[in-house]
Amino acid sequence: MAEVIKIEGGHELSGTVRISAAKNATVALIPATVLAEGVVTIFGVPDIADVGALSTLLRELNIDVTNLEDHIIVDTKHIQNAPLISEAASKLRASYYFMGALLGRYKEVTMRMPGGCDFGPRPIDLHLKGFKALGATVDYDPKEGMYHIKAEELRGTRIYLDFASVGATINIMLAAVKAKGRTVIENVAKEPEIIDVANLLTKMGARIRGAGTDTITIDGVEHLHGCTHEIIPDRIEAGTFLIIAAAMGKRIIVDNVIPQHLDALISKLQEMGVEMELVGDSIVVYGRKGQLKAVDVKTQIYPGFATDLQQPMTALMTQAQGVSHVRETIYQTRFKQCEELNRMGAKCQTEAPMAHIEGPTQLMGCDVSATDLRCGAAMIIAGLMANGVTTIHNVYHIDRGYDGIEGKLIALGAKIWREVEED
Ligand code: EPZ
Repeated sequence: MAEVIKIEGGHELSGTVRISAAKNATVALIPATVLAEGVVTIFGVPDIADVGALSTLLRELNIDVTNLEDHIIVDTKHIQNAPLISEAASKLRASYYFMGALLGRYKEVTMRMPGGCDFGPRPIDLHLKGFKALGATVDYDPKEGMYHIKAEELRGTRIYLDFASVGATINIMLAAVKAKGRTVIENVAKEPEIIDVANLLTKMGARIRGAGTDTITIDGVEHLHGCTHEIIPDRIEAGTFLIIAAAMGKRIIVDNVIPQHLDALISKLQEMGVEMELVGDSIVVYGRKGQLKAVDVKTQIYPGFATDLQQPMTALMTQAQGVSHVRETIYQTRFKQCEELNRMGAKCQTEAPMAHIEGPTQLMGCDVSATDLRCGAAMIIAGLMANGVTTIHNVYHIDRGYDGIEGKLIALGAKIWREVEED
């Protein structure tokens, strides 16, 4: 028995959708609470599966975790460092932030290899390079799939990231905030989620400068204390809804966004001919008046076009007049959604790192699979546009990253529901 999402396509959508807090900030902020000697309250926590897995890992460290309606209270009073060996650690890639946080607090961590979406190799060599530069030794037991990372002392140093990796930037920051002396990390990622984590650490008493620029400077401190924090809105969920609005909206207000986090997507949608209005922390989208124009997209590190929005964007491109071209420079094989779109009648041709989408094509509802989180988003968008009913399998991927997406779509007039089907 497995849950599926069904969508009856073709219904015009209207109304307001309020964006939840950023998944990719949340999954770093929760492990970061390990560093605080005290109580950390984080407001705005989205109701996504990853939060459950991370709370399990906190509890494995004997940390008191209270998950309330929209906030989480973490009390590390009785914390005990312990090997993180449960299934939870392999449920999501972001569990690796416990490496940096436990190394930062205890100079020792043992945990299983992280999990996460499957679109090609997802190494953590840059994370480990940073830990070693700070003075840690890294042992990996391939039989157990376990990392053991330990340091007599963590000393500040200069670290250059060969690639502006989001995960490595955050993980090294977590390991360095209590290291002795100054750490300078160069060629870091500049995603807004990194700034949010730096803000939490600063509230705890860390000394961090430059988050959001190419270089982050950290002066180690002895102790970090409790604090409260409000998570930033999810720019990827917001972008997903802008694309949904462009596809099927009459007039949709996407509320609780930080528009400049979406500059690249907004300009691409405008290039396609989508009419939008930026009003404070909302974006009003007037759906397709006439035909959408084909566009070219190249994914890049922030503030370029987000790779996480590439997959939802390819669904919209199936309706654009002409051939759209996508170049994936972050995860070169992140195109599993194209095969699923083609099952619905799209004309996508992929030769990694490129994809070419010819439009407009009439999509027909059928059985498709959410092969990963953002492919799931692309399937929802395609289902909303298709003739007939689309059945999306492997919906657990979608539940990892979108808080209550059916409820939000139903409120806009979509015909979307869940069923349990025989395997
Ligand atoms: C984060 O993953 C996001 N996940 C991803 O979002 C997002 O796609 C990605 O950043 C890029 O924006 C979270 O924040 C939890 P990276 P992360 O390290 O940190 C290579 C979603 O859908 N690399 O910036 O893993 C890597 O192989 C998810 O919400 C190394 O080579 O991304 C990739 O090609 C999917 N060695 C590139 O860098 C390393 O040590 C970008 O990876 C680390 C990364």
